[in-house]
Amino acid sequence: MATRKSPLSLIRQHIRKLHAYVPGEQPRHRRLLKLNTNENPFPPAPEVLEAVRNAVDARLRLYPDPMSREVRGALAAFHGVAPENVVVGNGSDDILAMAIRAFVEPADSAAAQRNPSKGTIQYFDPSYSLYPVLGKIHKGQLRSVPLGDDFALPTVSELKAGGSWDFRAALSFITTPNAPSGRGYRTADLEAICRATRGVVLLDEAYAEFADENAMELATRYPNVLVSRTFSKAYSLCFQRVGYAVGHPELMGALDRIRDSYNVNGLAQVAAVTTLKHHHYYEQNFAVIRGEREKTSAALEKLGFRVYPSQTNFLLVEPPGMPAEQWFQQLREMGIVIRFFKTPGMDRFLRISIGSPSEMKRFMNGIRRILRESLQS
Ligand SMILES: Cc1ncc(COP(=O)(O)O)c(C=O)c1O
Repeated sequence: MATRKSPLSLIRQHIRKLHAYVPGEQPRHRRLLKLNTNENPFPPAPEVLEAVRNAVDARLRLYPDPMSREVRGALAAFHGVAPENVVVGNGSDDILAMAIRAFVEPADSAAAQRNPSKGTIQYFDPSYSLYPVLGKIHKGQLRSVPLGDDFALPTVSELKAGGSWDFRAALSFITTPNAPSGRGYRTADLEAICRATRGVVLLDEAYAEFADENAMELATRYPNVLVSRTFSKAYSLCFQRVGYAVGHPELMGALDRIRDSYNVNGLAQVAAVTTLKHHHYYEQNFAVIRGEREKTSAALEKLGFRVYPSQTNFLLVEPPGMPAEQWFQQLREMGIVIRFFKTPGMDRFLRISIGSPSEMKRFMNGIRRILRESLQS
């Protein structure tokens, strides 16, 4: 047999070295209390389940609408914009990846060599850890800009004085409310940054439905701003993968040109359209989740946790008495799964997704038991 080089040599160099995004664990054990990936504890509206069930028939042999027209139309009506202002994705991760492909020149291209900002993808640190992974896949020039104390958004003057923000970067991601901290940002502060930045600014509003304010209006007023949202968190549809962007028709047209032809599957389109028809059901869920968030936050603070203010469906906390990883493991042994980031700078925190009232009761009982046992030992 002819000798061949290792298959590794067949892979592009920068992909060989790539560290993939690490998603939260998806344990299949039903008895585990899963508070680690910010899923919604409530099921989709009964009408959504019914619509998806009714769509499972001989139509599965057909391609879905490549333009996701019904979803676009429903989202346009929901946000008071035109369908040309909306693009739908296979989750909002798809939107983020499309934005990089559409707006950023690879760093080794002639355009980026002439003007490095054209190849620059910038984002605040910490924020969604998928941005640098997508940036590396595309060979973008990554620029990570530190947030202020307690994850505060720097003001424009601070960004100008600090020199770390590239006001001409091809693409800037701002996670608002911030993940993993949960901190909410004021629209006025975001607007000041969007106005001063010349490249595309993508406001990643994956958790906006749990917040007191959102910045959707900026996508309609600034031609360089787009807002991405998801059906995963607020609308209990992680399994179906639907996200979307709202922005200027020119930017949306660019995303449309480079997306996969059938990027949103048919059942997901059915689920998304039906979801928007039953918004009141979800509004009740948002209220319960926000209420549980505040209750859990107060209860944890009373027990000595440092809890960061949250405008999302999760809490970032610093636990008392022992390292965060030990808390994580002891909760895991009780069947309660939360998120621990083993990365430098983040390894003193725990992130807890907000579950239903009974789930949060079980969680708090677990926390109290650990505290009791640690006092006895
Ligand atoms: C900040 C942020 N953006 C985007 C996403 C992606 O959401 P999806 O691809 O499920 O729409 C997530 C998911 O965790 C997130 O935390």
